[in-house]
This record gives sequence, structure tokens and C-alpha cells, in this order.
Amino acid sequence: MRIDIKIRFTTNFVIGILSLFSFIGIAQENHLTIDASKSITKIRPTMYGVFFEDINFAADGGLYAEMIKNRSFEFSEPKMGWLEPNSNKHSFNNKSGIASIVKYTGHRTNHNYCSIFIKNDKGYELINEGFRGMGIKKDAQYNLSLLAAQKEGHITKIKINFIDSNGNSLGETTIVPNSSEWTLYEAKIIATKTEAKAKLKITFEGTGTILMDMISLFPKDTWKGRKNGMRKDIVQLLNDMNPGFLRFPGGCIVEGRTLAKRYQWKKTVGPIKDREILVNRWNTEFSHRSTPDYYQSFGIGFFEYFQLAEDMGATPLPILSCGIACQFNTGELVPMEELDPYVQDALDLIEFANGSIETPWGKVRNEMGHPNTFNMKYIGIGNEQWGPEYIERYKVFEKAIKSKYPEMIIVSGSGPFAEGDYFEYGSAELKKLNAEIIDEHYYKPPSWFRENATRYDSYDRKGPKIFAGEYAAQSVAIASPENKNNWECALSEAAFMTGLERNAEVVNLTSYAPLMAHSEGWQWTPDLLWFNNLEVYGTPNYYVQKLFATNSGTDLISIVENGKPLTGQHDLYASAVKDLVKKELIIKLVNTSSENQEINIMINGVKLVSKGIIEVLTSTDLSDENSFITPTKISPIINAISLSKNGLKTNLKKNSLSVIKLKIK
Ligand code: AHR
Repeated sequence: MRIDIKIRFTTNFVIGILSLFSFIGIAQENHLTIDASKSITKIRPTMYGVFFEDINFAADGGLYAEMIKNRSFEFSEPKMGWLEPNSNKHSFNNKSGIASIVKYTGHRTNHNYCSIFIKNDKGYELINEGFRGMGIKKDAQYNLSLLAAQKEGHITKIKINFIDSNGNSLGETTIVPNSSEWTLYEAKIIATKTEAKAKLKITFEGTGTILMDMISLFPKDTWKGRKNGMRKDIVQLLNDMNPGFLRFPGGCIVEGRTLAKRYQWKKTVGPIKDREILVNRWNTEFSHRSTPDYYQSFGIGFFEYFQLAEDMGATPLPILSCGIACQFNTGELVPMEELDPYVQDALDLIEFANGSIETPWGKVRNEMGHPNTFNMKYIGIGNEQWGPEYIERYKVFEKAIKSKYPEMIIVSGSGPFAEGDYFEYGSAELKKLNAEIIDEHYYKPPSWFRENATRYDSYDRKGPKIFAGEYAAQSVAIASPENKNNWECALSEAAFMTGLERNAEVVNLTSYAPLMAHSEGWQWTPDLLWFNNLEVYGTPNYYVQKLFATNSGTDLISIVENGKPLTGQHDLYASAVKDLVKKELIIKLVNTSSENQEINIMINGVKLVSKGIIEVLTSTDLSDENSFITPTKISPIINAISLSKNGLKTNLKKNSLSVIKLKIK
């Protein structure tokens, strides 16, 4: 009885003292030890990469800087995106005119053009609405091009204006059509004002019929100044992450809702005007975020993806259809005896990327302006396929690829789920086949990420390597439109990522998903970057990814507390690396508790310069987010940090990710 009272007294006393310490700001102390003398494993340059899929207007309407929606009148509704405010299809339009779509058959892949009958040039207007408007910047130059052929009558001028919502002109240019044959015309427009939702108005002088096609408009200022290229601001943020690889083009988009609508890389290379337009599979996927105007122009096709990877110093990782349409949709299977064209696509892709310019597909690459190879080392077969149908098809691909290109590393997949029947079956079968890299996906609650930092601790070091190819904490539920890129999600991902890094021996590639979203055209949230037609910002999740990716190091080293890795004890997580090139020791610490925590780190096995830096990512509230108005509200803050006798003492802020960098002598 007396003992019991004493224990209760003691426990209450200790709790009281701890609460008092916390009340007066004295934090809990933790003692960690780093052994920098041994490299546990090499960190591969591919450890942290990016996964690009054309979802959320990521390509058309996003990265691809084209400002005209439905530029060649090929959408299922061929005038979608085009407005004729003064025309009425139930009248002769004697006071204006009207456009008709002409569908011709022939060998070309795009079959429509627009025939415009102008009866009264004072009245007729053809307006393109852009992708939820067009973002234009004052004094910036925009390059317009179009194909036209004058057919009847006499049209002396094509006048092109940016307009605002009141119809005021924000810059103009004029083209003089001078041929009855299809002719390419080019012109420049300088914007007179910055406007997020401009439109492009086309009017005419004269009357008659003129044919038009491929009406295209790009900012002059693109990524690397490439004509008709990518949005510079968006690529810059990707490039700043120093991605180790670029996985493309999907995702479910690879698979298609049906086999006929799958992504076929061969249709995305060669002259832009001949790339066959395809409805985007995300167009109708979610009725609550329906985007009927979402198509793939393939202005960014496989050549452009390879080039982007090269620009960013990232390893290209293309994913191809394995002959199974998205199993969340039709799940159509190509019969095994008809799989050859799919396999041939994979072999030809390797030739396109790596073949000499004498080979048929190497020649195509050369003609597109890239005689050098793209040094492709990885190929992904299928995205989120599951079941015996996948394994059966995978085996055929593997045999064909390995017999022709034994050095090519094949990425397979364990399906869409992080556990369960499909996952276990896929992982086990692929392991039996000695698969080299298996792609795992998880869209889970933030708590799952905090609780699964040990996920890979028990994976067989001699088994297949892992590609954590798609993951993101979902604040509400997978595919919920209410999901937020909030600090709790980002912090939980950071905690989990220390587990990815600690297991770099098994986990060789990782990427967040999806990569980006148009603030008005999105279907899926959360996303790493959000953009509108003028701006882009990184989410807190982006800054987490960037901190890991730009501090990946070259060698994993051990960091432990009482001999054990920190995987959530006292809500703390840790990983550490050395960078033998930059000569740095880098420590990543995540504190997911709502208290500051005192950390003492003893660092053995290396001599360090006594002063270093600590980059801290934190926010006062777990529900905080970045936005267009406060784009860097949650972004790293850099401070100095000092060592004493090769030890380090620091106070980890509550709910924070800290990256400590110390120079090795
Ligand atoms: O990232 C969005 C989608 O989620 C991907 O297309 C797919 O692979 C996954 O189901």
C-alpha cells in the first residue's frame, strides 16, 4: 500500500516536472550517435526523382506553353475552346460570318480544319479562350503561327488581338494572307498589360472564305529559350529539385481507359502538326472534377520528355503499356498472341533513345535534332497492373528486352496498393522472376506515413530493388477533392522519407505523385506544384522533396539512439548521409511531436569543420499551406550551427524537418 502510493507520487511528480519543463520551454533531450566511418550503402543518383503525368492540365494547359486550346480543331467537339460571339448556327449570319469544320480523310493524322466564311468583316469574331484563359505579361513577346489558305472572295488581313474580359485590346498583330494554298504565317504580339485571363480574338478585313488550321501561340520566353517549348517557371522549380530521374508519361495515362486510347509513344514523335490528338483519360475520370476540354496534343511527346530529362540531368524512365488497359476502368487485355506490337514498341523505344542514327528509330531522333543518344538505362513495363495477366505479359516483355538489350533495367510494378492480395501476389511473383526493380505506390493518410518509416527495414537486401514511384499523404482520402497539401501531410512524408533513405540499399528510386496541377483545371489533389496561367508555387511537400533531393549525399551512414534507428520514438525520425563529392555530412531530423526536442548528436568517424548550417522547414499549424498569395510561407529557413568536440546540440522545433550540413575536413 505504501509502495503503491509512493509510485503514484513519483509518477505524478515526474509528469509534473516534465510538464513544468515544457511549460517553461525546456525540451526533452535525446542522445543520438552517428558513425560516419562506414558507408552502409551507396545512395544512387536516382534516389529522389520526379514523376510526370499529364493529369491536372500538367502538359496541355501547363508545362507545354501552348496558349491556344484545340489549335487544330480536332477535339470531339471540334469547335470546343473557340467562341464566335456574333455568329448563330441557325442563321445565314449576314452581319458577321461563321466557321465550319471540314473533316477530310487522308494519310495525315489530324483530319480537321476550319473554314471561315466572312460575310461582314465588321461583325465576325473568332475567339480562343485558352486553358481557363491565357496568362500574358506586360511587354512580353508572344509568337503566333497559323496555317491559312484563301479560298473565295478577298480577305486582305487577319487581325489578332489579346483581349481582356471587357473586350479591350491588350496587344495586336496582323497577318496578310497571300495564297490560295496552305501557307504557314508567323507573327509576334507584344502584350500591353499583364492579365491572367486574356483571350485571343481573330478578326478579318474583307469578305470571302479562308481556311485555317494549327493556330498556335507561345510565349517567346520558354525553358531554355526553345521555340514553342515549355513553361520556364514550372521547369525551373522542377530543375531546382535536382531530380535524379524523370518518370513519364504516367501513370494511368499510359494504360488508357481502353487499349485503343492507351499512350502510344510512336504517335508522339515527329512533326508536331502530325501528332494525333487523343482525349485525355482524366477528361471524364472524376465526375466531380469533369474536364471535357482535356485532350492530349502531344506537343510534349517522348522526344521532349527525353530532352527535359537531359536538361535536368535526370535519368529518363519511360513507362509503356504492357497490353492491359487501366484495371480501374475497362481492364481490357490484349490477347497473348497479339502482344507482339506492344513488345516491339518497347524495343523500338530503346532504339529511338539509344540507337545510332543509322537505325530506323535513331534516325527519327536525329531528324528531330538529337543525334546523340539519350542514354536510357531504365524502361518501365506497365503502371499499376495486377494479377496473373500482368505477370504473364511481363515475362514476354522481359524476355524480348533482355535478349536484345541485356543491360536495360526493367521496372515492373506491384499494383496500386501498398499491401493486400494484389500487392503480395505481384511482389512474390516478381521476386520469383528475379525482377530488378518493383514499383510500389501508396496514397495513404498522413498517420500511415509516420507509422511506416520502418516499411523497408525488413525487405530482403538480395531481392528486387524498390521504386517508391507514387506516394503522397492524403489529408482526407485517396482521390478526395478535399485533400490538401498541408504541413501535416508534408511533415509525415518527411518522416517516412527518412525510412526510404535509411533503406537506400533496397529503395533505389522514389517520387511524389502527382507532380503538378492547374489551379482551375485539376482532377486530383494533392499535387507537388500548383500553377495558374501566370504563376507557379511549390507546396510544403515540394520543399520536403527538394530538401531530400538536394541533400541526397553519396553514402548512407548510421544514426541511432540506444543502438536503434530513429523511426518514431518520441515522434522523432532520422537519417544521415555523407557526400563524398561535396565533402559534407548531412543529417535529416524530423520531429512530428507538438513539443520542441533537445538533440545531442555524437559524431564519430569523421573530422568536421566546426561551423555548419541547419535548414529548418516548419509551420505553426499543421493545417498550414502555401498558396499563390503566400507561395513560400512554408519553405526552409537557413541558420548557422556549431559543433563542440565533434558533438552537436540543437533544439528541434516542434513539427519540423531539419537538415544539418557540416563540411568534412
Ligand atoms: O497519380 C495519379 C494516379 O494515381 C496515377 O495515374 C496512377 O498511377 C495512380 O493510381
